[in-house]
Amino acid sequence: MTDVIACLPGDGIGPEVTAEALRVLRQLPLDVEVVELPFGGAAIDETGDPLPAETLAACRASSAVLLGAVGGPRWDAGGPRPEAGLLGLRKALDVYANLRPARHMLVVRELVGGLYFGARGVREDGTVFDTCEYHPAQVERIARRAFELARVRTRSVVSVDKANVLDTSRLWRRVVSEVAADYPDVELRHALVDSFAIEVAVENERLDVVVTENMFGDILSDLAAGVTGGLGLAASASLGDGGPGIFEPVHGSAPDIAGTGAANPAAMLRSLALLLEHALDRPELARAVEEAVDEALVSSPTRDAGGDATTTQFGDTVLAAVGRRVPAAGRA
Ligand code: NAD
Ligand code: IPM
Ligand code: MN
Repeated sequence: MTDVIACLPGDGIGPEVTAEALRVLRQLPLDVEVVELPFGGAAIDETGDPLPAETLAACRASSAVLLGAVGGPRWDAGGPRPEAGLLGLRKALDVYANLRPARHMLVVRELVGGLYFGARGVREDGTVFDTCEYHPAQVERIARRAFELARVRTRSVVSVDKANVLDTSRLWRRVVSEVAADYPDVELRHALVDSFAIEVAVENERLDVVVTENMFGDILSDLAAGVTGGLGLAASASLGDGGPGIFEPVHGSAPDIAGTGAANPAAMLRSLALLLEHALDRPELARAVEEAVDEALVSSPTRDAGGDATTTQFGDTVLAAVGRRVPAAGRA
């Protein structure tokens, strides 16, 4: 059966890195159909809505969503925000488990709760508020996902919170501890987010699975990327319970380098590898893409990775390296 991939290039460097991922995807021996859809700022310009109904419908009907990045100064001045489209899509697909690998460690970020999705508003006196909210069931399902992942890794989980201050963090800590009782073979440690940030910065090679709430996970995953090669390399998979997942880089639309050919497509290509593994169940093709990316990072790195290759030149190297690893590549 043909798998439909909903491709949402988005804004800034999003379309630039997505183009390289699509070149590689089309070269693989797979029965896939790619449908490109407007999303983010590009969709605001076209339709006034960052997540048009047709885009959401196509994502729901797809086997997986491959997403570039959204946002940029053009849409910061007022009116609808590109980022609202991204949050709406994550919520609509209920992709609560955001896997963000960074060399040895794996940040498992809760993606559809917390401060991002709690009550918000303005009081009469002008005070603006966002609220961090978690239901125990939301914590339980992400904790289970983290423990399951730890079982096939080094059987160690660090749960990161701010339980010395926040009630939601105390709930988080209690529920994670309860779930841990079902996984006696996995070691659990709780850590406070402020001092844990130092662990990520200076001794991340000792970390394996790190599970945390939405906002802490956003910040810690950029930090983890920064200390393990940079945002140009960091991929992510956002998974729910059975529906289509979203596969996207950790980085944003990088308006500072958009249009210059300097964007590193490695994060996007690694996100494609995660799609091949998790959505299409083709781990051997995922490995081939990952190895090809590793090879290109050595032989033709982009500027952020210490070289001077352009986005397309990096993609050319990956295509050739995939071709050597997948005998049937290019003949699909
Ligand atoms: P950013 O991740 O876009 O960029 C941060 C820095 O990293 C910049 O200097 C950029 O040039 C560099 N960088 C990022 N990706 C790179 C790549 N592939 N190759 C080389 N260098 C790369 O973060 P920002 O500047 O804080 O945000 C810019 C916009 O992106 C904002 O509108 C933000 O909301 C949006 N954003 C979107 C997503 C997403 O769509 N998933 C994620 C993060 C930020
Ligand atoms: C990310 C981004 C998004 C987030 C923004 C663009 C809404 O920073 O995917 O990490 O905060 O989740
Ligand atoms: Mn982020």
